[in-house]
Formats: sequence, C-alpha cells, structure tokens
Amino acid sequence: MMHKHSDYMHWAKTMSRARFNLATSGVGAYPLGELPSQPAMEINGDNSYGYGPLKRAIAERHGVDPDCVVTAAGTSMANYLAFATMLEPGDHVVIERPTYQLLVDSLRYVGASLGTFRREEQAGWAVDPDAVRRAMRPNTKLIVLTNLHNPTSVLTPEPVLREIGEIAREAGARVLVDEVYLDAVYRDTPRTSFHLGRQFVVTSSLTKIYGVSGLRCGWILAEPDLARAAWRLNDLFAATSVHPGELLSVEVMRNLDAVRARTQPIVETDRSVLDEFLDRESGVSAVRTEWGTTAFLRLRHGNVDAFAETLRAAHDTSVVPGIFFEEPGCFRIGMGVDSEMFAEGVRRLALHLRNHVQ
Ligand SMILES: Cc1ncc(COP(=O)(O)O)c(C=O)c1O
Repeated sequence: MMHKHSDYMHWAKTMSRARFNLATSGVGAYPLGELPSQPAMEINGDNSYGYGPLKRAIAERHGVDPDCVVTAAGTSMANYLAFATMLEPGDHVVIERPTYQLLVDSLRYVGASLGTFRREEQAGWAVDPDAVRRAMRPNTKLIVLTNLHNPTSVLTPEPVLREIGEIAREAGARVLVDEVYLDAVYRDTPRTSFHLGRQFVVTSSLTKIYGVSGLRCGWILAEPDLARAAWRLNDLFAATSVHPGELLSVEVMRNLDAVRARTQPIVETDRSVLDEFLDRESGVSAVRTEWGTTAFLRLRHGNVDAFAETLRAAHDTSVVPGIFFEEPGCFRIGMGVDSEMFAEGVRRLALHLRNHVQ
C-alpha cells in the first residue's frame, strides 16, 4: 500500500490552533501593504519552466546559476519534487531523527526504504557523521537533513556538512538539505550548503522566516541536469505556477532583508522569555540555541500527548507533540509571531506544568 497522507499536516491544519498558539514554526504574517512598492499585476506570464525574474532573484540571492533553480509551491512541494526526481521505489534513504514528519511521509510516498541516523540530545542534537556513516547501505541514494534542524533549531556547521557530503560522494549518493529555517540566523547567516559540492541538493522557501507563506514561493537548488529533470517531472504535477504569486514573490525578493528584519525583534524577545522560563522550570529541559523560530522541550515527567491535550483544553494553549518528530518525550514550541501571545502562552505552560499530574 502506498503511503498517502501525513498525520502531522492533518493535525497542524485541524488541531493546532489555540488562542495562545505555541504550535507555530515560522514568524507572523507579513502584511502586503508594508511592501515598499507593489508590482504591476498580471494574470498570465512567460513561466513555462519558471518565471525568469523570480529564478534570477533566487539565484542571485544564493550566488548560483539560474539553471540550478527549480521553483515550487513551498518547501513542501520542493522536497517532494526533489525526492520524486532523485529516487526510484526501493532506493535507500538515510534521514535524521528527530525529524520533520512530512519529509518521512513524502519519502514513504515515493517508495523509499528508510534508514535513520540519530541526533542525540546529550550531544546537543548535533549531526554526528559517524552515525550517518553507520546508517549507510550499498543502495543508499540520499541523505536527508534539515538546517536549522526542525524541531530543535540546532545549526549544523559547514565542516560537518562537508563531512556528510564526503560520505555521500563516496557512496555515489546525494545530500538533501532542507534550509527553510537557515535565514533565522540573523547574524553572519551561513551560505547555502549547495556550494559544498554537486551532490548537494537544497530546498527552501520564503515561508518560515519571511512571513509570506501564502505566496508558496519555494525552490530547489540542484545541479543543472537534476534541475532540468525536476522541471520535466513537474510537468506532471503543476504545469506552471500561479503568475500573480510569482510577481509578488519577485517584489518580496527585492526587499528580502527588510522583510526579514521586521520580525527579528519579536523572535529575540520571545527567545529571552523562553530562556527565563527554562532557567526557572525544572519540569522541562531544552538544548538552548542562539537562533531559530522553534525550540524542542523535554517533559521530564509524564506523557506528552496527554500534557499537550490538557494544556490546550484547560489553558487554550497549543504546542506540537514530539510524536510528530518521532520523539514522543518532547514537544515543540514556536517563536516570532506575537510576543504578548508568546509570553502569555509560556506563562500558561508554566502554570500547567505545576498542575500536571505525573
Ligand atoms: C523542515 C520543513 N520543511 C518544509 C516545511 C514546509 O514549508 P512550506 O510551507 O514552505 O511548504 C516545513 C514547515 O513546517 C518544515 O518545518
């Protein structure tokens, strides 16, 4: 039976809302009216294999050739399209754990056989190249990780990514790095790992750190032959993109630094609230990070699913249960939407921790 659903996505769409919503993953919505200028709108455009100005804007931002850019509806479609282009049913794929469940769901759907490498909490959830090496099989075609890591927001530094690239190169495999959270590193933002070798394939979008999720402006960066193959496969799914969305995306790309800067103070305020909470509370623990819009908290006692459910029912506050990242003892909270909401949500979380029956 083919795997044809995502429990996480369904939960996120139907169960994650609350007045104090800590189940978010990206920053708050960017209001269209704040764009310094509006593009001249048109319904149709020359976008058979992507809209040139948008491909060029994405390419320029990342210092790559436009022939390496494949635009797609969000990182979700970029990931799926990249997997479907690169993999045959039965191919072995090595993926990090904890992991963003939609990656696993998409890989299952394309018929990949999955192996995992663990990111250990005691090691600060870091990627351990030896663990990746141990998970490799003779038919491994792809290694998959997120950077920043969802759910923990831990940054994988370039030397480690290079080592992973070397493991892939020796095995004749590729590395897919989902970088949708990378631009949450506000200072000395690392360059995309696409530059680390031809075996690197990168996916991202303007969704999480720019607050323009509704544009569904996502992309794959891949070497030109693979990019061409992805465009050809995309003919089966999307034919072409929604052109008004492309025009607006080009405008956002022109103002990208300003759009990103808008929510930086919110993320920073929320992180200081979170750090104070973690300093005070003994019922939870977390690896602290300098950057990122999510944090992954371990509940020291009791069942996370029950905790999350009663938190929502009693305190109108939502968090994402760790089961959706294959780490059931933890839960994820999100920063960067609204600091008043975040502070109140965290206050309610603290209250609930006190009342939580163990
Ligand atoms: C690691 C990761 N990749 C992709 C996505 C989906 O991004 P988009 O909304 O751009 O499809 C998410 C959203 O939570 C994510 O966490």
